Amino acid sequence: MTALAEECQLKEAMNHYFGGSMINATEGRAVLHTALRAPRNQDIRVDDENIIPGVHAVIDQIKSFSQGVIDGSISSSNGQAFTDVVNIGIGGSDLGPAMISEALAYYKTHLNLHFMSNVDGDHVSEVLQNLNPETTLFVVVSKSFTTQETLSNATTAKHWLVDSCGEKAVANHFVAVSTNLQMINDFGIDPNNVFPMNDWVGGRFSLWSAVGLSIALGVGPDHFEKMLQGAHAMDMHFANTHLHENIPVVLALTTLWYNNFYGAESEAIIPYTQYLHRLPAYLQQGIMESNGKSVDREGNTVDYQTGNLIWGEPGTNSQHAFFQLIHQGTKLIPAHFIGFKNPLHGKQDHHDKLMANFFAQTEALMKGKSEEVVRREGVEESLVPFKVFAGNKPTTTILIDKLTPLSLGKLVAMYEQKIFVEGVLWNIYSYDQWGVELGKELASTILKEIVNKKKSAHDSSTSSLLRVYNR
Ligand code: F6P
Repeated sequence: MTALAEECQLKEAMNHYFGGSMINATEGRAVLHTALRAPRNQDIRVDDENIIPGVHAVIDQIKSFSQGVIDGSISSSNGQAFTDVVNIGIGGSDLGPAMISEALAYYKTHLNLHFMSNVDGDHVSEVLQNLNPETTLFVVVSKSFTTQETLSNATTAKHWLVDSCGEKAVANHFVAVSTNLQMINDFGIDPNNVFPMNDWVGGRFSLWSAVGLSIALGVGPDHFEKMLQGAHAMDMHFANTHLHENIPVVLALTTLWYNNFYGAESEAIIPYTQYLHRLPAYLQQGIMESNGKSVDREGNTVDYQTGNLIWGEPGTNSQHAFFQLIHQGTKLIPAHFIGFKNPLHGKQDHHDKLMANFFAQTEALMKGKSEEVVRREGVEESLVPFKVFAGNKPTTTILIDKLTPLSLGKLVAMYEQKIFVEGVLWNIYSYDQWGVELGKELASTILKEIVNKKKSAHDSSTSSLLRVYNR
């Protein structure tokens, strides 16, 4: 199958990607999240300027700020140590930090992390109501700093803080991560509290950038750095390994195989650790926002399938929920099983049970159970068809030594590179996301109508729904 990758000139595409070419052509940008985890001595150029010194200046800024908050030398407006950190952001400005901080909860600092993403006021209230404004730090994360949800939530949080601690507290309690320095200034965040981002980092690939500030606060700067090292190790594997032994390449080709030749519409992600319970949601954005495209790089509508649906839940919970359909349903669902040889808390008896299920499921999906075997077990004839398992269901097993910042960095980067390869194979642009714009535009028009109690032309369904809402 690597012949297809060669035919699609994957190696040349990889050189453009790692080398900083404008491969995000519809937005006129390079795609260089790989540079965010490159070592200090590397030289990667955008507009003929080496970006690595700037990358490491931000890493140093993250390290010293997070260390200061953790050890209390950076404190609240009344000199108290911070106890809680609220990450305000959505999409890539939320899912990466949220997923990683859950995944590395074992390595957690004393700071309690909270995530405020949805513009839903109930979600905002639920987060704020249990916090003490005097010891809460807000990290406002938005690459564009124009995202409605993030600006609304940050404004509400700011009022909540000012009501208790006064206007002056904002300087100590708010930091921001963005490319848009002007908007941060307009919002009233101290320029000294700004962590910059670059436009050559896409939101869904940004957890390695200053977007990872909450991660560094939540698990400590050393663990954050280890995660970067893990991702870099995977980048090196991807860049330097023959296609047929290259993990992201083989994974992408396998996805293409089932997606395009077997009609599989989705791919399930089943981590056998509760720590990775947010990984499927994180990968939903990474994969579906990247490769959910129906126009190829020449602007033609494609006549083949592209990005698949991503979904999943940790095992063993998922076994008791949707595995019935994977085993005996009519849909073909390739599944990734992600497991670890060693538990973190040392409860080996639990871990053996967990992993016995992990191996049993992939064996069951592969081998199934024939009519003959079912009959041999003495099952009553009328029940035989219900107890047969067709088998031959595809799974990919990813077995890792231990869940550490290093191995997690490798795992996440592996999926990032898989996304890249798929985009090359499908000849689509993976790094734009125009498909999210229309809904945003319509929402802002409708919001004006709701607030100003003004009617305007919509289709009949939307008009009647708005009538009911405004009643
Ligand atoms: O709506 C899609 C999107 O642009 C994502 O790609 C991005 O991760 C998210 O919104 C948040 O964007 P920002 O970081 O600019 O607030």
